[in-house]
Amino acid sequence: MTAITESVGIAFEGDGAQRVAVITIDNPPVNALSHHVRQGILDGVTQAAADASVAAIVLICAGRTFIAGADITEFGSAPKPPSLQAAQAAMEDCVKPVVAAIHGTALGGGLEVAMCAHFRVADAGARFGLPEVKLGLLPGAGGTQRLPRVTGPAKALEMMTSGDPIDSTEALECGLVDEVVVDLRQGAIDFARSVVAQGRPLTRIRDRNDKLAVDASLFGDFRRKIGAKTRGFLAPEYNIQCIEAAVSLPFDEGIKTERRLFEELMNGTQSAAQRYYFFAEREAAKVPGLSKDTPLRPIDRVGVLGAGTMGGGISMSFANVGIPVTIVERDQASLDRGLAVIRSNYERSAKRGSITAADVETRMALITPSLDKADFAEVDMVIEAVFEDLDLKKQVFAELDGICKAGAIMASNTSYLDVDQMAAATSRPESVIGTHFFSPANVMKLLEVVRGAKSGDDVIATVMALAKRINKIPALVGVCDGFVGNRMLAQRRIEADRLILEGATPAQVDKVIYDFGFPMGPYAMSDLAGLDIGWNEATSSSSTVREILCESGRRGQKNGRGYYTYDPDTRASTPDPEVVEMIRTFAASKGVAQRQVTDQEVLERLLFPMVNEGAKILEEGVASRASDIDVVWINGYGWPVYSGGPMFWADTVGLPEVVARIKHYGEALGGRHWELSPLLDRVASEGGKLQQATGA
Ligand code: 3HC
Ligand code: NAI
Repeated sequence: MTAITESVGIAFEGDGAQRVAVITIDNPPVNALSHHVRQGILDGVTQAAADASVAAIVLICAGRTFIAGADITEFGSAPKPPSLQAAQAAMEDCVKPVVAAIHGTALGGGLEVAMCAHFRVADAGARFGLPEVKLGLLPGAGGTQRLPRVTGPAKALEMMTSGDPIDSTEALECGLVDEVVVDLRQGAIDFARSVVAQGRPLTRIRDRNDKLAVDASLFGDFRRKIGAKTRGFLAPEYNIQCIEAAVSLPFDEGIKTERRLFEELMNGTQSAAQRYYFFAEREAAKVPGLSKDTPLRPIDRVGVLGAGTMGGGISMSFANVGIPVTIVERDQASLDRGLAVIRSNYERSAKRGSITAADVETRMALITPSLDKADFAEVDMVIEAVFEDLDLKKQVFAELDGICKAGAIMASNTSYLDVDQMAAATSRPESVIGTHFFSPANVMKLLEVVRGAKSGDDVIATVMALAKRINKIPALVGVCDGFVGNRMLAQRRIEADRLILEGATPAQVDKVIYDFGFPMGPYAMSDLAGLDIGWNEATSSSSTVREILCESGRRGQKNGRGYYTYDPDTRASTPDPEVVEMIRTFAASKGVAQRQVTDQEVLERLLFPMVNEGAKILEEGVASRASDIDVVWINGYGWPVYSGGPMFWADTVGLPEVVARIKHYGEALGGRHWELSPLLDRVASEGGKLQQATGA
């Protein structure tokens, strides 16, 4: 093979009408379209086109995948020529057949390049997608105009607004791929030769209009269908507008619309936030100071103690990926109840069609119920999910220490408690760690991995890798009350509870948070979780709004009455004037005068203390990167990814402004959560960014 650029080479196969130029892209890890790749495609195709001995051209990639898209690391800097469009035009306008040979993932700019070949062949494992929407973007290299011409607008709408890829079979069915082959390189060469032999026309996708006719209702219906899911996001709507342009305008005019909308998204904060998040999530999986070759402990079988809300969901997360689980409860009734909930969750998924009836049985068969902790003797890791009580957990760890085999990892799912104290109850603190799952544990992506003072490097590395195996997104945090997520949430709650005494209603507070982009506000969340979690009737003394509500029989959604009232059939919530009155009376008894509170004040008082606490968490080294905190909030609590998480968001608000408001509220209201973090103060005064700040 002859090098064209540092990551693209060319080779020639066969002679005469059989002679095929094979252009190979080799730009690890994912063959992104860095400038030397664009240059290589342009030069390679130009050279092969000019070479009279070449009959056809195959474009293929080395390594694990076809081109996975534009090089995201180049975004934001001045584009280096040649443009991707120039490389694409060389392919599309080539008078010799150009065949793209696809394996791995043809994503974004990668698929847009493939759609400029005259033909596409793929292996059976290949996948095809335009995931730009996940980066807050739209395909900016003609993909919005070409994909609807290949697949028809309805399928293009699905693919571009979800960003999810399709497989080879589907791609073949919808015409995105011409042939699926076994040996990709040889298959693509053979395919190219057959095109030459048959004299097949070299149709450019841009010239095809045969699939563009649509029903007038298509776009309106589609917008309604995805409206709830894409609330707050700009990119899905912009993608739809591009497809509307594809069906109503000539190709070149459609491209102008694509360019205009692409630029707008690229220069906006949503895409900046989503691109930041793309790397934040990948960064979070890497532990600073931990070598890549830290040995991992094998995890082939796990144990879960407690079959309650969390134990059940945690067990499902393992069974879902084929890892056998032994689940132990303290009595038969709790065990039966736990297993029944797991089964009914699986059956609901089967009914919805996301798994098959056979999957339900396979997964249930992976879960072995037991009443005897001695059955943990052979597991490689045990996770306790018993009640949130430190004495109980310490006792459980001491007991498990006597049962689990040497080398077994012992983990706690505690939400707040001190993992080091649990470790101290064992003879092997190096094997103890926190694995804080989020509810529902079988659904939520986040796993806070809590590093104890003595947790071994191999234990940390094993659990971080295990998280990926069970399809979770891990973030490593340190021991403190509530770790990263719940510790910050607690600060938000303090101000929410103050605000409702001062005259904001629970519905107003929730609406501000919902409109910001969270799935629900703090009071809707309390109602959902149950107001009586942690409430004790015997000691309740009407000292908080929550106690008063619980004392009056309000338990939240489960009994139809909490901060809101709930329709028994639809579960729809309605603000309850009785609750507002109860709060008013309580505020009066505390001497708090009520007033009109603006939405802006609600927003600042709920979110700025979180930013402040996040900075303190960084300062203490409880999180090692600001971006880890953002990963926690986006995946554990539904912070909208389009504003990047609390740390990134604070940067977009402007740190001097954030600091000024924290000082203002600190003086007016007091409280530890308003005491300004020195790190935040310093970064703001230096003109720096919180997202780049690192901890202790
Ligand atoms: N640009 C630069 N780097 C990229 C990249 C890209 N498009 N895609 C992945 N990488 C890097 C990752 O940051 C990671 O780097 P690291 O090892 O240093 O952390 C490495 O490649 C491997 O990535 P993953 O850990 O994600 O590997 P997986 O095997 O799990 O996944 C993948 C591979 C499916 C290709 C996944 O990386 C992915 O989804 N990438 C993004 C694809 C994408 O969004 N493409 C569209 C880009 S925008 C575009 O094309 C605009 C165009 O329309 C003009
Ligand atoms: P839960 O009350 O639903 O379940 C706890 C289960 O543990 C019960 O079924 C109980 O019978 C069992 N149990 C108690 N002592 C036991 C013992 N000695 N041996 C065997 N089984 C025993 O509680 P939930 O909500 O599942 O919480 C469990 C843990 O997970 C707690 O530490 C909690 O703080 C934490 N957590 C809870 C979250 C939630 O949203 N519910 C979220 C994240 C963590």
